[in-house]
Amino acid sequence: MNTILLGAPGVGKGTQAQLLSERDGFVQLSTGDVLRTEIANGSELGKTAKGYMDRGELVPDTLILNLVALRLDRSKSYLLDGFPRTVAQADGLTKLLSDRDMKVDVVLSLELPVEEIVKRLSARRVAIKSGRVYNLIFNPPKKDNICDVSGEPLIQRSDDQPEAIRVRLKEYENKTEPLKNYYDQRIGIQIIDADGDMETVYRRVKAALA
Ligand code: AP5
Repeated sequence: MNTILLGAPGVGKGTQAQLLSERDGFVQLSTGDVLRTEIANGSELGKTAKGYMDRGELVPDTLILNLVALRLDRSKSYLLDGFPRTVAQADGLTKLLSDRDMKVDVVLSLELPVEEIVKRLSARRVAIKSGRVYNLIFNPPKKDNICDVSGEPLIQRSDDQPEAIRVRLKEYENKTEPLKNYYDQRIGIQIIDADGDMETVYRRVKAALA
Protein backbone atom coordinates (compact mmCIF):
# COMPACT_ATOMS: atom_id res chain seq x y z
CA MET A 1 0.00 0.00 0.00
CA ASN A 2 1.39 3.42 -0.96
CA THR A 3 0.36 6.21 1.37
CA ILE A 4 0.92 9.95 1.01
CA LEU A 5 1.16 12.16 4.08
CA LEU A 6 0.16 15.67 3.03
CA GLY A 7 0.24 18.66 5.35
CA ALA A 8 1.82 22.02 6.01
CA PRO A 9 5.40 22.33 7.31
CA GLY A 10 5.59 21.45 11.00
CA VAL A 11 2.22 19.75 11.18
CA GLY A 12 3.87 16.50 12.35
CA LYS A 13 4.25 14.43 9.15
CA GLY A 14 7.80 13.32 9.97
CA THR A 15 6.88 12.46 13.56
CA GLN A 16 3.94 10.29 12.48
CA ALA A 17 5.95 8.71 9.65
CA GLN A 18 8.66 7.75 12.13
CA LEU A 19 6.10 6.16 14.49
CA LEU A 20 4.48 4.25 11.63
CA SER A 21 7.83 3.00 10.40
CA GLU A 22 9.05 1.91 13.88
CA ARG A 23 5.80 0.36 15.07
CA ASP A 24 4.07 -0.82 11.93
CA GLY A 25 6.85 -1.47 9.43
CA PHE A 26 5.98 1.29 6.96
CA VAL A 27 8.86 2.23 4.64
CA GLN A 28 9.23 6.00 5.00
CA LEU A 29 10.42 8.02 2.05
CA SER A 30 10.91 11.65 3.09
CA THR A 31 12.26 13.94 0.39
CA GLY A 32 13.25 16.46 3.07
CA ASP A 33 15.39 13.84 4.84
CA VAL A 34 16.94 12.68 1.55
CA LEU A 35 17.83 16.28 0.66
CA ARG A 36 19.37 16.91 4.09
CA THR A 37 21.47 13.75 3.70
CA GLU A 38 22.64 14.98 0.28
CA ILE A 39 23.62 18.31 1.85
CA ALA A 40 25.46 16.59 4.71
CA ASN A 41 27.34 14.45 2.15
CA GLY A 42 28.33 17.57 0.20
CA SER A 43 26.92 16.23 -3.11
CA GLU A 44 26.27 18.48 -6.12
CA LEU A 45 22.55 17.84 -5.71
CA GLY A 46 22.78 18.85 -2.05
CA LYS A 47 24.64 22.05 -2.94
CA THR A 48 21.91 22.98 -5.47
CA ALA A 49 19.09 22.16 -3.03
CA LYS A 50 20.55 23.98 -0.01
CA GLY A 51 19.84 27.53 -1.19
CA TYR A 52 16.19 26.76 -1.90
CA MET A 53 15.77 24.97 1.44
CA ASP A 54 17.43 27.66 3.54
CA ARG A 55 15.13 30.26 1.99
CA GLY A 56 12.09 28.02 2.60
CA GLU A 57 11.35 27.61 -1.11
CA LEU A 58 10.52 24.34 -2.83
CA VAL A 59 13.36 22.59 -4.66
CA PRO A 60 12.69 22.29 -8.47
CA ASP A 61 10.37 19.44 -9.50
CA THR A 62 12.80 17.70 -11.90
CA LEU A 63 15.45 17.41 -9.22
CA ILE A 64 12.94 15.95 -6.75
CA LEU A 65 11.46 13.52 -9.27
CA ASN A 66 14.94 12.25 -10.23
CA LEU A 67 15.79 11.77 -6.59
CA VAL A 68 12.56 9.82 -5.91
CA ALA A 69 12.96 7.69 -9.05
CA LEU A 70 16.34 6.50 -7.74
CA ARG A 71 14.72 5.32 -4.50
CA LEU A 72 11.52 3.68 -5.70
CA ASP A 73 12.94 0.23 -6.34
CA ARG A 74 13.82 -0.51 -2.72
CA SER A 75 10.39 -1.65 -1.52
CA LYS A 76 6.95 -2.73 -2.76
CA SER A 77 5.23 0.08 -0.87
CA TYR A 78 6.05 3.44 0.63
CA LEU A 79 4.91 6.00 3.14
CA LEU A 80 5.60 9.25 1.29
CA ASP A 81 6.35 12.14 3.65
CA GLY A 82 6.72 15.60 2.13
CA PHE A 83 6.31 14.35 -1.44
CA PRO A 84 4.57 15.12 -3.75
CA ARG A 85 4.36 18.86 -3.12
CA THR A 86 3.23 20.22 -6.49
CA VAL A 87 0.82 19.07 -9.20
CA ALA A 88 3.83 18.37 -11.48
CA GLN A 89 5.32 16.10 -8.79
CA ALA A 90 1.97 14.33 -8.32
CA ASP A 91 1.72 13.68 -12.08
CA GLY A 92 5.35 12.51 -12.07
CA LEU A 93 4.67 10.17 -9.15
CA THR A 94 1.69 8.58 -10.92
CA LYS A 95 3.95 7.83 -13.89
CA LEU A 96 6.85 6.52 -11.77
CA LEU A 97 4.50 4.20 -9.87
CA SER A 98 2.58 2.95 -12.91
CA ASP A 99 5.91 2.06 -14.59
CA ARG A 100 6.38 -0.27 -11.59
CA ASP A 101 2.77 -1.57 -11.53
CA MET A 102 2.08 0.46 -8.42
CA LYS A 103 -0.28 3.29 -7.51
CA VAL A 104 -1.15 5.71 -4.73
CA ASP A 105 -3.63 3.96 -2.43
CA VAL A 106 -4.24 6.33 0.48
CA VAL A 107 -3.84 10.08 0.94
CA LEU A 108 -3.97 11.58 4.42
CA SER A 109 -3.85 15.31 5.05
CA LEU A 110 -2.72 16.40 8.53
CA GLU A 111 -4.27 19.71 9.55
CA LEU A 112 -3.35 22.15 12.31
CA PRO A 113 -4.00 25.86 12.99
CA VAL A 114 -1.13 28.07 11.80
CA GLU A 115 -0.32 29.47 15.29
CA GLU A 116 0.26 25.91 16.53
CA ILE A 117 2.45 25.15 13.49
CA VAL A 118 4.67 28.17 14.17
CA LYS A 119 4.94 27.17 17.85
CA ARG A 120 5.96 23.60 16.93
CA LEU A 121 8.52 24.68 14.32
CA SER A 122 10.13 27.36 16.47
CA ALA A 123 10.73 24.84 19.29
CA ARG A 124 11.89 21.96 17.05
CA ARG A 125 15.40 20.57 17.52
CA VAL A 126 16.87 17.74 15.47
CA ALA A 127 19.70 15.22 15.70
CA ILE A 128 21.40 14.87 12.33
CA LYS A 129 23.00 11.43 12.77
CA SER A 130 20.13 9.61 14.46
CA GLY A 131 17.43 11.47 12.52
CA ARG A 132 15.46 12.01 15.77
CA VAL A 133 13.15 15.02 16.02
CA TYR A 134 12.50 16.71 19.36
CA ASN A 135 10.52 19.68 20.59
CA LEU A 136 11.62 21.90 23.46
CA ILE A 137 7.99 22.31 24.57
CA PHE A 138 6.18 19.11 23.57
CA ASN A 139 8.83 16.41 23.32
CA PRO A 140 12.09 17.51 24.98
CA PRO A 141 15.17 15.27 25.16
CA LYS A 142 16.02 13.72 28.55
CA LYS A 143 19.23 15.78 28.77
CA ASP A 144 19.22 19.41 27.61
CA ASN A 145 20.09 19.65 23.90
CA ILE A 146 21.44 16.07 23.66
CA CYS A 147 19.90 13.31 21.56
CA ASP A 148 18.55 10.45 23.74
CA VAL A 149 19.61 7.86 21.17
CA SER A 150 22.98 8.97 19.79
CA GLY A 151 24.20 11.42 22.46
CA GLU A 152 24.95 14.01 19.73
CA PRO A 153 24.13 17.72 20.25
CA LEU A 154 20.76 18.85 18.90
CA ILE A 155 20.55 21.64 16.36
CA GLN A 156 17.89 23.98 15.03
CA ARG A 157 17.17 23.50 11.32
CA SER A 158 18.24 26.52 9.26
CA ASP A 159 14.73 26.71 7.76
CA ASP A 160 13.10 26.91 11.20
CA GLN A 161 13.94 30.63 11.43
CA PRO A 162 10.90 32.98 11.37
CA GLU A 163 11.45 34.31 7.80
CA ALA A 164 11.96 30.84 6.30
CA ILE A 165 8.91 29.51 8.19
CA ARG A 166 6.84 32.32 6.65
CA VAL A 167 8.05 31.46 3.12
CA ARG A 168 7.46 27.71 3.66
CA LEU A 169 3.88 28.31 4.77
CA LYS A 170 3.29 30.50 1.69
CA GLU A 171 4.82 27.87 -0.61
CA TYR A 172 2.55 25.27 0.98
CA GLU A 173 -0.54 27.40 0.47
CA ASN A 174 0.27 28.24 -3.16
CA LYS A 175 1.77 25.01 -4.46
CA THR A 176 0.93 22.07 -2.18
CA GLU A 177 -2.55 22.77 -0.86
CA PRO A 178 -4.05 22.37 -4.38
CA LEU A 179 -3.02 18.69 -4.13
CA LYS A 180 -5.84 18.14 -1.66
CA ASN A 181 -8.36 18.74 -4.44
CA TYR A 182 -6.20 16.88 -6.95
CA TYR A 183 -6.21 13.69 -4.87
CA ASP A 184 -9.73 14.10 -3.58
CA GLN A 185 -10.99 13.99 -7.17
CA ARG A 186 -8.86 10.95 -8.08
CA ILE A 187 -8.56 8.77 -4.96
CA GLY A 188 -10.30 10.46 -2.06
CA ILE A 189 -8.49 12.17 0.75
CA GLN A 190 -8.85 11.75 4.51
CA ILE A 191 -8.37 14.75 6.76
CA ILE A 192 -6.60 14.06 10.06
CA ASP A 193 -6.87 16.50 12.95
CA ALA A 194 -3.19 16.95 13.94
CA ASP A 195 -4.01 18.94 17.09
CA GLY A 196 -3.32 16.85 20.17
CA ASP A 197 -0.33 14.96 21.48
CA MET A 198 1.69 12.60 19.27
CA GLU A 199 -0.02 9.44 20.54
CA THR A 200 -3.49 10.90 19.99
CA VAL A 201 -2.60 11.90 16.43
CA TYR A 202 -0.99 8.48 15.86
CA ARG A 203 -4.27 6.77 16.88
CA ARG A 204 -6.19 8.95 14.41
CA VAL A 205 -3.73 8.13 11.63
CA LYS A 206 -3.92 4.39 12.38
CA ALA A 207 -7.72 4.51 12.37
CA ALA A 208 -7.65 6.17 8.96
CA LEU A 209 -5.29 3.48 7.63
CA ALA A 210 -7.36 0.57 9.00
P1 AP5 B 1 10.67 18.86 4.81
O1 AP5 B 1 11.79 18.30 5.58
O2 AP5 B 1 9.72 17.93 4.13
O3 AP5 B 1 9.93 19.85 5.76
P2 AP5 B 1 8.39 20.26 5.87
O4 AP5 B 1 7.38 19.72 4.98
O5 AP5 B 1 8.49 21.73 5.91
O6 AP5 B 1 7.97 19.54 7.13
P3 AP5 B 1 8.72 19.57 8.41
O7 AP5 B 1 9.80 18.55 8.45
O8 AP5 B 1 9.11 20.99 8.76
O9 AP5 B 1 7.55 19.24 9.43
P4 AP5 B 1 6.77 17.90 9.72
O10 AP5 B 1 5.36 18.04 9.25
O11 AP5 B 1 7.53 16.69 9.30
O12 AP5 B 1 6.75 18.05 11.30
P5 AP5 B 1 7.63 17.31 12.42
O13 AP5 B 1 7.14 15.91 12.57
O14 AP5 B 1 9.08 17.55 12.26
O15 AP5 B 1 11.20 19.86 3.70
C1 AP5 B 1 12.18 20.83 3.97
C2 AP5 B 1 12.53 21.57 2.70
O16 AP5 B 1 13.07 20.63 1.72
C3 AP5 B 1 11.35 22.23 1.97
O17 AP5 B 1 11.09 23.52 2.47
C4 AP5 B 1 11.88 22.26 0.53
O18 AP5 B 1 12.84 23.28 0.34
C5 AP5 B 1 12.61 20.92 0.40
N1 AP5 B 1 11.75 19.84 -0.06
C6 AP5 B 1 11.46 18.69 0.60
N2 AP5 B 1 10.63 17.92 -0.13
C7 AP5 B 1 10.39 18.60 -1.28
C8 AP5 B 1 9.59 18.34 -2.41
N3 AP5 B 1 8.87 17.22 -2.52
N4 AP5 B 1 9.56 19.26 -3.39
C9 AP5 B 1 10.29 20.40 -3.32
N5 AP5 B 1 11.06 20.71 -2.25
C10 AP5 B 1 11.11 19.81 -1.24
O19 AP5 B 1 7.10 18.12 13.70
C11 AP5 B 1 7.44 19.48 13.87
C12 AP5 B 1 7.70 19.74 15.38
O20 AP5 B 1 6.51 19.51 16.11
C13 AP5 B 1 8.76 18.81 16.00
O21 AP5 B 1 9.48 19.53 16.96
C14 AP5 B 1 7.92 17.68 16.67
O22 AP5 B 1 8.60 17.12 17.78
C15 AP5 B 1 6.69 18.46 17.07
N6 AP5 B 1 5.46 17.65 17.02
C16 AP5 B 1 5.09 16.74 16.09
N7 AP5 B 1 3.89 16.22 16.36
C17 AP5 B 1 3.46 16.85 17.51
C18 AP5 B 1 2.28 16.77 18.30
N8 AP5 B 1 1.27 15.94 17.97
N9 AP5 B 1 2.18 17.57 19.40
C19 AP5 B 1 3.19 18.41 19.74
N10 AP5 B 1 4.35 18.53 19.03
C20 AP5 B 1 4.47 17.76 17.92
